[in-house]
Formats: sequence, structure tokens, C-alpha cells
Amino acid sequence: MSSQFNQEEGAQTSLAEELRTTTRQQHHALNAQITPRLPLCLPPIADSPLIYVKGMIVFGQIYIAFEGFWETQLAFPQLNQRLLQIYENVHFPWLLRSRQLRHDIDALKSDLLRSQIQELEVLVDESRGFRLQVERSLSARPHVLLAYTWTMYLALFNGGRWIRGQLVSAGPEFWRGSTLPLSFWEFRKEGEVDVGDERLKEEFKEKFQGAASILTEEESRNVVEETMKLFDMCSQMVEFLDNKTATSPSQKAFAESPSLLTASQLKDSIVANSTAPSLWQCLTSVCSSIKTTTSTALRGKASSAG
Ligand code: HEM
Repeated sequence: MSSQFNQEEGAQTSLAEELRTTTRQQHHALNAQITPRLPLCLPPIADSPLIYVKGMIVFGQIYIAFEGFWETQLAFPQLNQRLLQIYENVHFPWLLRSRQLRHDIDALKSDLLRSQIQELEVLVDESRGFRLQVERSLSARPHVLLAYTWTMYLALFNGGRWIRGQLVSAGPEFWRGSTLPLSFWEFRKEGEVDVGDERLKEEFKEKFQGAASILTEEESRNVVEETMKLFDMCSQMVEFLDNKTATSPSQKAFAESPSLLTASQLKDSIVANSTAPSLWQCLTSVCSSIKTTTSTALRGKASSAG
């Protein structure tokens, strides 16, 4: 039911493929926004995880909203059997992020100053609008849950792996302890040996395809529209965070400089070297170029200050 008939190519396109093609430009733009901003929440620019926590609170609104809605529907079903089947199909306990998100934020807050915690409480209030927007969309069209699962979990399985690497490289001193409060970025099946993210990602994609095949044509179109809206929301979140995080002029200039990494560059690398280590080599080289640019920006800042 879910496959779209592509008239030009005369072929059936899966919903996942349709989503990837439709959001390519948006993903590229988002990537260009996020990649150069990541160093702003890490040393040597940041001296505490405050900005990172702000980012987690704001982007966390999306996960809290759709996972909360999803769990409620599974516990007290009000949906018809077909939609419930979709909800159940992609539901894995190891996939859900809300618990890890709350756990990491609480752990990080315990080392912040009282005034910083108050700042975060204000931010939670100010970013509530994003959560409400997601909840409203899901209440009106429950099948668009698939837009949220596809976007927000595949984001973690792809760019999220690179982001996690960057975060970990800040070291235990920055994170205030040897147990890093970064469980949000890790997928682990409870009670099982670590099977690796790639296996879990494939498992998710397979189930997603099964769930997507239950959608009607119109519902599939709604999922595509919602995914585009969601990418827009992520971009708005970056702008929102820019306004809510007091950054110095040199930090702003750094974040606004052209992106060092584009999704298409990464994709080219994946296509050319279809194994995971090669992607990581590409990401590692990108990391070092970010680090070089960071130190150049900082050196520029130091010399202009001096
Ligand atoms: C909120 C921000 C982001 C969202 C919502 C997002 C979302 C997604 C989604 C849904 C996919 C899956 C595409 C597919 O498998 O068809 C994806 C793939 C990917 N993303 Fe992101 N992403 C984000 C940020 C980033 C960043 C910052 C990077 C940079 C490291 C990145 C790098 C990648 C890569 C390398 C892929 C795989 C490329 C491909 O197979 O086409 N993403 N992302």
C-alpha cells in the first residue's frame, strides 16, 4: 500500500527512499547548521556542559513528545487496529530515547550552578511550544508517528554516531566523571551482548518498511509532508538555540562560517567506500579539520584580544 509509483522511472519507490529524496536538501542545510556549532558546546570553547544541556533540552522536546504519545497509545489504545499495528511494528524498548535523555540531563545538572539550573528551567518553558506542536500533529494524524521515528532515530544512527565521537573526545574531566552522561547516543539491547549500532539500525529500517507498507497512499503522503515539517522544526531549533545561548562574537562568526562537512560529501564517501570503517575515516578527517578550524578561530580571537 505504501509504495509510491514513480512515473518517470516507472518503478515502485519505498517510503524510506521517498523520505530520503524529499528531505535531501533540508538535511544538507541542517547538517551545515549543526556541524560548525557542535564545537561551541565543547572544550576549548565551552568550559562546562551547559550549552550541551541546552541543546539536549530543546531537541529533546521532539523525542519526549512523540515517544510519550506513542507509549500512551500502546498503553491505552484509542487507535484502530491498523494504526495500532503500525505503532507496535516499530516499537522496540531499546530504541526509545526519553529515559536516557532525562537521565543524562539530570546527571549533568547535578554539577551545574544554581543560576545555570534556573536558566535551564526557563529554557524548558520556552521550548515547550515545540513539544506541543509535535503532540498536536500526532493527535490530528497519528500515522505521522512514522515521520518522527524515521527522522529522529536515523539521525542518531548516522550523524549521531559522529556527534557522539566528538562529545566523548571532550574527555571525562569536561563531563565531570568517568561515567559519561551520554547514554542518549547509545543503543543497547538490555540483557544482550552489544550487537553494534549497524545491526540495530538495519533491524529498525526493516520494521519501518513493514509499518510503512500498512499505510494508505494518502497517509504516506502525510508522512512525507510531516517529515519535511520536522526538518524545518530542527532548523528552527538551531536558530532558537542561537538566540538562547549567549555566544561571544568570535563564537558566532565560527558558527556562521561555511560548513566544513556536508551530507553529500559524507554520502559520496559512503557510496565510494561502502564499509563502516571508511565512513569513520571520513568522519575522523572531518573532525580534525573542525579542530584545526577551531584552533585557528581561537588563535584569531587570542591575537585580536592581545
Ligand atoms: C537534527 C539533525 C539531523 C537530522 C534530523 C538528521 C536526519 C537524518 C536522517 C533521517 C538520515 C537517514 C537517511 C536515510 O537513511 O535515508 C540521516 C542520514 C545521515 N546523516 Fe543526518 N541528520 C541530522 C544531522 C546530521 C549531522 C550533523 C550530520 C553530520 C555528521 C549528519 C550526517 C548524516 C549521514 C552521514 C547520513 C547517512 C547518509 C546517507 O545515507 O544518505 N546528519 N540523517
